[in-house]
Amino acid sequence: MLSYADKIKQAADAVAKQLNGNFDSALILGSGLSHLFADADTDILDYQQIPNMPAPAVLSHQGTLASVKFKEKSVAICRGRVHLYEGHAAEDVAFMVYVLAQLGVQKLIITNAAGALNPDYSPGDIMIIQDHINHTGRNPVVGQDDTLGMPFTDMSQAYPPTLAADALRCGSNLDLNVHLGIYAGVLGPTLETSAERRMLRAWGADAVGMSTVIEVIAANHCAMQVIGLSAITNMATGATDQRIDTVDEILANAATAAIGIAEISQTLLTE
Ligand code: HPA
Repeated sequence: MLSYADKIKQAADAVAKQLNGNFDSALILGSGLSHLFADADTDILDYQQIPNMPAPAVLSHQGTLASVKFKEKSVAICRGRVHLYEGHAAEDVAFMVYVLAQLGVQKLIITNAAGALNPDYSPGDIMIIQDHINHTGRNPVVGQDDTLGMPFTDMSQAYPPTLAADALRCGSNLDLNVHLGIYAGVLGPTLETSAERRMLRAWGADAVGMSTVIEVIAANHCAMQVIGLSAITNMATGATDQRIDTVDEILANAATAAIGIAEISQTLLTE
């Protein structure tokens, strides 16, 4: 039976063969953001064409890997991801990140849709992730040997501050509503109770979502540099004026933030 590391290598070899080589950097597009850079795609692969690759079941996630050129840089765009809440193990969620590392990716931009715990944020805003709280109870490094990285990987600068500062500066220069904040990753798929949201806020988090943290742990585990961008899609303060969240509203606000996320990503990936 193939080991996890062997499956990753097999997947990376297949991608390199079908998309003609390696990448400098990569972008993972989350909920409501999958349409970004659709015009720029050169070659596209379905996740199903990648050996051992788990496929996303969520409608707003496509499940394709595209190869794009931003200036001279070769960028992998991952449209869609798998989530813990679909029943996937953390190692499935992290799989693509490890494949990207094998393909030479050193800089990874991870995007997501998130609810605002911070009352000063508004739907449609963008949060540059400064740090995260992993409240999923899962970790992709559990049970691994040291083939892909060391178990006690340092996570004290999981989102390198200089890159986060670059992203913030870039967003401000573009006149976007950008914030630097802490992302709380939860298991889902149900949204949080109001008491849970107030708890996450009291813990210091500014936004909450159901992805990203597992991928960022994997990226740090294999020494990639991560930038996290959250599309703020709904208010999730758990205060007395808390409204009922709908998926339609979340996707509509993701579309608003998506324009700025595309601009920031493209700038950072061409530097
Ligand atoms: N909670 C969790 N995940 C989310 C939310 C939320 O309020 N909004 C978008 N993704």
